[in-house]
Order: sequence, then C-alpha cells, then structure tokens
Amino acid sequence: MSIARKLVAVAATGFVAASLAACSSGSSSAEGGDVDCNVGISMPTRSLERWINDGEQLEKLLKDDGCTVDLQYADNKTSEQISQIQNQIAGGAKILVVAPIDGKVLSPVLKEAKTQDAVVISYDRLINGTENVDYYATFDNYRVGQLQGEFIEEQLGLADGEGPFNLEPFAGSPDDNNAKFFFSGAWDVLTPYIESGQLVVPSGKAPASDDDWASIGIQGWASDKAQAEMDNRLSSFYSGDEKVDVVLSPNDSLAIGIEASLKSAGYTPGEDYPLITGQDADKANVKAILDGEQSMTVWKDTRELGQKVFEMIQSIVAGEDVEVNDTETYDNGKKVVPSYLLEPQVVTKDSVQEKLIDSGFIKASDVGL
Ligand code: BGC
Repeated sequence: MSIARKLVAVAATGFVAASLAACSSGSSSAEGGDVDCNVGISMPTRSLERWINDGEQLEKLLKDDGCTVDLQYADNKTSEQISQIQNQIAGGAKILVVAPIDGKVLSPVLKEAKTQDAVVISYDRLINGTENVDYYATFDNYRVGQLQGEFIEEQLGLADGEGPFNLEPFAGSPDDNNAKFFFSGAWDVLTPYIESGQLVVPSGKAPASDDDWASIGIQGWASDKAQAEMDNRLSSFYSGDEKVDVVLSPNDSLAIGIEASLKSAGYTPGEDYPLITGQDADKANVKAILDGEQSMTVWKDTRELGQKVFEMIQSIVAGEDVEVNDTETYDNGKKVVPSYLLEPQVVTKDSVQEKLIDSGFIKASDVGL
C-alpha cells in the first residue's frame, strides 16, 4: 500500500517537516512511526578508508536500533551502484542513503525508488538532476577548500606580502559534486595572490576561474593518477634549481600520490619540502603528517555525519521533522536540497594527538605512535 508523503520546507526555522501520512501495514515499531526502518546504504568504494568507516558506522547505529540494513559498496563503478540500488529497492528499502559515485546519473533509479515512496538521503556527496532526493547530509564542502586555502595563505605569509612561491594546484574527480566546492573554497582565497604574482604556477595548470576547476580534476580521486600528473609536471616544468613550494591537494588520496611523486623526484622532508594540503585524516596521511611529508589534513569527523544521518532516519521513521540547517546552498539543478552541513576542521602535526587520537578517531598504533 502506498504512503502519501508531503515534504514541507520551513526555511525560517531551519526545519523540514516530513509529514508522512501513512496507511501502510507492517510499519516500524517506532512510536507513531509511519515508515519501515528498512534502509539501503550505497557507498562508492572500499578503496578509501573513509567510506569503509562511514558505511560500517551507520550500519551499526541502524542495526542496534532494530532497523533492517543492506550496505553495499560499488567499487567506484556507476553501473554497479545503480544495480545495487535497484536490488535494495526490490528488497523493500523504504529509506535509501546514497553517496553517489557520479552525481548526475541516478535519476532513473531514484524514480524507481519513488514508486515505493522510499525517502532518499544524499550522503556526503550531492545527487544531481533529480527531484527525487529528499535530504542531504554533508560537511560544509566550500569550507573544506577554504580551510586549505587559508592554511596556505597563513603558512606562506601571503597576507604579509611574502612570495613569489611556486604552486601546483589539483582538483578532485570531475563527476563528484563536492570537488567543485572544495576547489572554489580554496581558489577564492588563493586567486588574489596569483593575480599579485605572489603565487606562480609554473605548469600553467591554474584554472582561469572557479568554473574551470574540472580541467585539473583527477578522475576517481585516484592516487596513481595524481602521482602520474605530478610526475609530468615535475619533469616538464621544473628544471635546475626550480622547486615546488606548495601543492593544493583537495584530499588525502591525491596527496598520497603527489607525495610519492615528490619523493621519487628527490624531495625529502625538511626545510625545502613543499606545503601539501589534504582532507579526510586517512591513516597513511596522518602518518605522513607526523613524518613531515604532508602539512595538514582537513578532518571531517565521519562519526558526526553517521550520527546525523541516523537521526534523520529516526525522524523519518517516526514521522517527525527532519532537522536541516541549510536550505540555500545545494541546488541540484532540479531543486534546492534541504541540507545539514557539519563543520570540518584542520589537523596538523601538533593536533594529531588531541583531535584524532584522544577522540578515538584513530589509534596511536595505527600511525606508528
Ligand atoms: C569526499 C571526500 C573524499 C573524496 C574521495 C569526496 O566526495 O567528500 O571526503 O576524500 O570524495 O573519496
């Protein structure tokens, strides 16, 4: 039997009322609940630590609360993700949590999901081009890039007029909606210094504007592709004494590849080693930070994201308001998706212990401490 759903966004209060007038049988045991807590979780890949943590954590929260959960990883392949979601729909999922590989290709499968009135939550990355996405939970993606840009600005003393420095910028996967936010957050901080000549990009791979970010995007966020690109830039544009001073890397998987490239070109941690940014606080990168091979990472405590999505699901199941705190930023081309944005934070060598280890995000032994 179908469930009539009415979603009313109340921007002023920062809440979206999910009034789920239901007539379904076999609904959740939650008091006043209208929706089965039957959840399909679709994560992009197991190849990156963060998605493994994200998936397992949300699965546990939901199972401990008595929900039925199907957790799938799609090996970074769009077709695999679509067929996994189709299976979840066939399995009766009433709530879908999807971190899309390609934000633009899920419209048909989500249309299918709506035939059984499933509620769709976009997880970390936005699903584009469809009406059929109800909520979005993520970290403030623009802020992630801004933190990377501000770190570079501060460490190099750019606001005090220091320079010129050689910068090599990278951007994330062109099919990931987050990547453009990361890039523009950083680029909006750095562009004035490129214009003033304090930052110089010897490879010429400096997008003319935020909108051109995909020209330096690394498909699939692949470490080996970032490494090959950095190898190319180093061998083609750096000769003699010319050195890279700073690399804008949008995340840790790219940073790992870039660091491997620098290493094989003879760069060693120490005074002349470039500043390198990152994101995610992956263990290998935290180790690199402790070893002086990476300067920072933007840490997104994915436990907070899992908790927030869990709370969204609890509200949906109970027919209650779903809390959001942004109803303006994430326009997916068909609608502005009501979002909950969490705060990312910078971690450097000095704050690894306090932020990552003391909080239990990683174990000291995982990073050689
Ligand atoms: C996530 C990042 C991650 C990247 C690669 C992005 O959408 O927000 O945390 O590093 O994908 O998986």
